[in-house]
Amino acid sequence: MKKEEIKFEYESYNDISELDEADAKLVQAARDVTAKAYAPYSNFLVGAAAKLANGEVVMGTNQENASFPVGICAERSLLATAAMLHTNVPIDTLAVSYHNLNGDSSKPVSPCGMCRQALREYEDRTQQPIRLILSGRDGKIIVLEKSTLLLPMSFGGDDMK
Ligand code: THU
Repeated sequence: MKKEEIKFEYESYNDISELDEADAKLVQAARDVTAKAYAPYSNFLVGAAAKLANGEVVMGTNQENASFPVGICAERSLLATAAMLHTNVPIDTLAVSYHNLNGDSSKPVSPCGMCRQALREYEDRTQQPIRLILSGRDGKIIVLEKSTLLLPMSFGGDDMK
């Protein structure tokens, strides 16, 4: 028997003022687009903004449904939009933020498991890691060099070969 370990590093910032201009712009876009979320059931408005390798910016927000599982997260709505508008163009950086109408919005958002899997598929498909910037409306910001750091030992297409 051998004990093995998975570790990863990430950057953390006190707030948006510590980011470079391009990242700060993307985080602000993610915060602003929360206004377009449709979240009447959770009151948790999520916004995502991505800078693509072709320089375009694509957005997404969560879209809920009275039949709860039908709803879609901001990250996956963004990925579907990017895939349609800019097919096979890699995503360089994706910022996610939220506005919790029921409480505090300063803890960095944590993408759900389904979105982590969807992000992994997008990385595989476009052959490029997606840099993630996670934040709330204000306060601490986390930057990960690739989204798959959040999904260790994940399952992908190669595992079926
Ligand atoms: N949600 C997202 O859109 N992205 C996340 O990273 C976390 C959760 C949405 C799903 C649901 O509409 C609401 O937030 C509460 O879970």
